[in-house]
Amino acid sequence: MILVLDFGSQYTQLIARRVRELGVSCVIHPYSLPAAEAKALAPHGIILSGGPASVYAEKAVRPDPAILDLDVPVLGICYGLQALAHHFGGRVESTGRGEYGRATVHVRSRESDLLADMPERFTAWMSHGDSVTGLPEGFLTLAETTDGVVAAVGDPERRRYGLQFHPEVAHTQHGADLLRDFVTKICRAPADWSLSDFRKRALEELRARVGPEDRVICGLSGGVDSSVVATLLHEAVGERLHCVFVDHGLLRSGEVEEVLRILGEEFHLTIHAVDASERFLAALAGVEDPERKRKIIGETFIRVFEEEARKIPGARFLAQGTLYPDVIESVSIAGPSQTIKTHHNVGGLPERMDLELIEPVRELFKDEVRALGRALGLPDAAIDRHPFPGPGLAVRILGPVTREDADILREADRIYLEELRKAGLYNAIWQAFAVLLPIRSVGVMGDQRSYARVVALRAVTSVDGMTADWYPIPPEVLGRIANRIVNELPGVNRVVYDVTSKPPATIEWE
Ligand code: XMP
Repeated sequence: MILVLDFGSQYTQLIARRVRELGVSCVIHPYSLPAAEAKALAPHGIILSGGPASVYAEKAVRPDPAILDLDVPVLGICYGLQALAHHFGGRVESTGRGEYGRATVHVRSRESDLLADMPERFTAWMSHGDSVTGLPEGFLTLAETTDGVVAAVGDPERRRYGLQFHPEVAHTQHGADLLRDFVTKICRAPADWSLSDFRKRALEELRARVGPEDRVICGLSGGVDSSVVATLLHEAVGERLHCVFVDHGLLRSGEVEEVLRILGEEFHLTIHAVDASERFLAALAGVEDPERKRKIIGETFIRVFEEEARKIPGARFLAQGTLYPDVIESVSIAGPSQTIKTHHNVGGLPERMDLELIEPVRELFKDEVRALGRALGLPDAAIDRHPFPGPGLAVRILGPVTREDADILREADRIYLEELRKAGLYNAIWQAFAVLLPIRSVGVMGDQRSYARVVALRAVTSVDGMTADWYPIPPEVLGRIANRIVNELPGVNRVVYDVTSKPPATIEWE
């Protein structure tokens, strides 16, 4: 196993991700982990992450010095290199000239396994103010940047290494190979990490944390993250898990039934389902502004959730499906448990209700959560669902939201997704949905003039939702979808297709 000590870099989790991609087990602990605890973990090697601090800052974050003397290989990255150099008596200085972004690294020595297979020159990603200007005794300069700044150092005898650049980011050429050589050649860590180990470890941790009398509340949304978290927790604590599913009346067609059927009936989870649609629709009546809609839904959601949760006696924990991308910018040097982002749909609740947060999949990426869901036995239909925004159909009904409009849109969306599945396109598309426009257009149906609503269809490809491109659905499929929507929904007489990318448009229309 590789132990990563977190000094607060935004890339710490990425290091763990890269190590895990090698099939090697990896855990992250705050930089302050006592050496005795580090030793008890019996790591094959230790990686010191980067961090925003300076080793000379008044409140310098320093590892327990005894950790750096453990008899295992250590690799310091960026700040980690400086902490290492400082510990072993080297000189670290702020030259007043930082390096940020791309730099060319020149290999100067191949006397260690770290850079032995790297090309003479490669591009690396730098982000530092201080530099190592004097090497500790026993250390060699393994690489320099074009400007002569120390880029890689090593003491092969003591198996201590440092990189000024970030091998874990995609912009560094051969960065993954470099980490692989450290982990497999220098640390000789076995490649035996797997999702099933993660599951085992997560279950052990959950059982250790949740006492025999404690109960856990988990919000279900119908999405993959919360379904996986609930299923995992159910495996860990059984009946002591209570799921709360708030139906705000703006969910996709069949969503409530499907969650109750799969998680309630097949997996035997205790689900407190609340139909709060009246309350949400009343709160939204006449509201046009998208941001106000979001705010109203968020606040109403918290209130309803809180009322339900208070009915569960002995509740001590709130479980959330926070993922790695949610925490990527918020890892603090105080350690992951201190850095709770409240942007999730139950944000703010833990403090209000005095609940402790449990985030069992916060180390995982979306694809890993999906794989975990499959391992837990969740059906593909639940795992491969397109993302769905918390405010639901409210941000796809342009203008004020009414129950009638929500019903029309839900049906249009159902027909659309059904046809995409039939055409075998659903899994090729990242997100597809229908939008109900606040305008009417003239049509002619069976010799009658119609004056009815317009539905817009959107389908995009994306990796993370940050950027997206419109998906070219074949015309015959589009035609079939439009035909069905207009024929089956009396209030709609026109269908249009959205062909804008993000940017300049966003994925949702509001
Ligand atoms: P945009 O529209 O910003 O959407 O391009 C990017 C991704 O985020 C989803 N989205 C939301 N998710 N609450 C959510 O939970 C929201 O208020 C929200 N707005 C957008 C959107 O569906 C897409 O996947």
